[in-house]
Amino acid sequence: MSPLVPAGGKSALLSNIATLVTNDPGLGRGPLGVVEDAALVVESGAVVWAGPASEAPGSTETAVDMGARAVLPGFVDSHAHLVFAGDRAGEFEARMKGEHYTAGGIFATVEATRRAGDDVLRANLRRLAAEMLACGTTTFECKSGYGLSTGDEARSLRLAGERTDEVTFLGAHVVPPEFRGRPDDYVSLVCTEMLDACAPLARWVDAFCDRGAFDADQAAAVLAAGRARGLQARLHANQLGPGPGVRVAVESGAASADHCTFLSAEDVDMLAAGGTVATLLPAAEFSTRSPYPDARRLLDAGAAVALATDCNPGSSYTTSMPFCIALAVREMHMTPEEALWSATMGGAVALRRQDIGRLAPGAFADFVVLDAPSYVHLAYRPGAPIVAEVWQKGELRAGGRAA
Ligand code: NIG
Ligand code: FE
Repeated sequence: MSPLVPAGGKSALLSNIATLVTNDPGLGRGPLGVVEDAALVVESGAVVWAGPASEAPGSTETAVDMGARAVLPGFVDSHAHLVFAGDRAGEFEARMKGEHYTAGGIFATVEATRRAGDDVLRANLRRLAAEMLACGTTTFECKSGYGLSTGDEARSLRLAGERTDEVTFLGAHVVPPEFRGRPDDYVSLVCTEMLDACAPLARWVDAFCDRGAFDADQAAAVLAAGRARGLQARLHANQLGPGPGVRVAVESGAASADHCTFLSAEDVDMLAAGGTVATLLPAAEFSTRSPYPDARRLLDAGAAVALATDCNPGSSYTTSMPFCIALAVREMHMTPEEALWSATMGGAVALRRQDIGRLAPGAFADFVVLDAPSYVHLAYRPGAPIVAEVWQKGELRAGGRAA
């Protein structure tokens, strides 16, 4: 534990913050609730006060100097596939020579994952979680989906649960080889025995509703079976082409429709109507050399947009939310302000969480300190290591401050 902020209910004043992003418009300027020359008071891992330094309460036990840097909510990566073995660098290289991405590449990872021992999967997960933390991610979601048998899916969820509370069952990722030509038999297995074993190990149910994976009826059946067992829905939708994914997500009451690369006007309207967040994963388009989703159209229609990494060995092997923010700004025409909101509050909304994604009383003290005066530098300085410190629940977890 960092000695910088005392434990045991004592409070600490974090001061000399050049720009504080609260994501609470009631606390500061604009949708990000920005406060210049700000301070935060942290107690028992949570924010108890945020505002201008000149108005900070004088009753705190400790003071921490944030060095005239920007402080933002920790990134919320609401879409990642981290339980796997091996990599697919060869597939990426072939793609960069002109091959197209298809759902079929997943089979290589399924084979490697099934063969791997728990220790191998655990070590990979630990490595990727450490990368995420170093990049400023303080909450991440993690899916199964490279097991595709009852035992292997349950194992993946158990391992994911060692690292995060946001665990998602993705047994309906693709039809495994032993069910080739019998997708409905596999969906039946997923909807009965597999979900019976896996639902207690997860919070969310997901499916890949796309060309080469599952159709609308199959995906809807999986989400319904998961919901019947107490899971909440989210869905991979419209990644590889136009299709029914967004409609299935919205009709299933999903918290999020993820990818949204190919949307019809009706899809945009359904997402703008609220209830289901559009989670955009621009690193997947970057890594598969695909067109980017039309973020502007979604935002201008009033949809809630989240940004996430989609970290996985096939379509998007990055753990970096700052990279996704830079892509969102440069390639999807999101403003730096919109991209930061989507990477923090947007992810929190996509995970139906109110205790993360913002720095306001009642939220966890999960935050990033940038070696920069403003959040704009996340996109302005792409690829530069400007995430200087990462704090979770009031403790310094990554970064360069000598304790
Ligand atoms: O979100 N689209 C489906 N699943 C992953 C890719 C998985 C893989 O290629 O291994 C995704 O892009
Ligand atoms: Fe994904």
